[in-house]
Amino acid sequence: MRYLTFALAKGRLAKQTLEIFEKFGITCEEMKDKNTRKLIFVNEELKLKFFLAKAGDVPTYVEYGAADIGIVGKDTILEEGRNILEVVDLGIGKCRMCVCGPASAGELLKHHEMIRVASKYPNIAKDYFYNKKHQTVEIIKLNGSVELAPIVGLSEVIVDIVETGATLKENGLDVLEEICPLSARMVVNQVSMKMENERIRNFIKELKSVL
Ligand code: PRP
Repeated sequence: MRYLTFALAKGRLAKQTLEIFEKFGITCEEMKDKNTRKLIFVNEELKLKFFLAKAGDVPTYVEYGAADIGIVGKDTILEEGRNILEVVDLGIGKCRMCVCGPASAGELLKHHEMIRVASKYPNIAKDYFYNKKHQTVEIIKLNGSVELAPIVGLSEVIVDIVETGATLKENGLDVLEEICPLSARMVVNQVSMKMENERIRNFIKELKSVL
């Protein structure tokens, strides 16, 4: 039996994912050691390998088959647009992708004005404004703390993740439009799904039984 390899999005999501996996007997003790600098972890008994990657890279590892399976947010899946299969919604990391800004920007959206939209997710923003709203906008790619953009006058609105809404509130911004709900998903490489069909199907069944 060959190893099945998992790419997990580094951080809180990986930790929550491993907690779910433990519920149906998938463990990786090595990975729990906080001081380790290792990048890849093996469960010899179950013939599984796990590695932690930057969230944005998980769909890439899965598309190329360097990982058979990935666990990553729907936001990243939409933004990366990779050729991968999305098979399970883990129901963790729930949040929403929204257009946000000062309340006054609501009018600009309503009247389809030519505005600037700052986002860490330029592809999601482009798809929403161009294909769904048919509104021509200028998209500005940022790498984080996107809420700053409308405050300092870089853009009229932002497209960003809203979880509790606390960041928006503390910065005097509102949700103006909701784009889509988000949560963590299990994704699978197209070829792995065929070659390791039974193993992956069983894994999905077990995973679903604990969700
Ligand atoms: C995310 C997101 C918002 C915030 C939303 O940022 O981009 O800024 O969390 O959460 P809230 O609605 O619960 O306040 P993250 O912490 O990932 O950092 P970033 O700004 O560098 O992207």
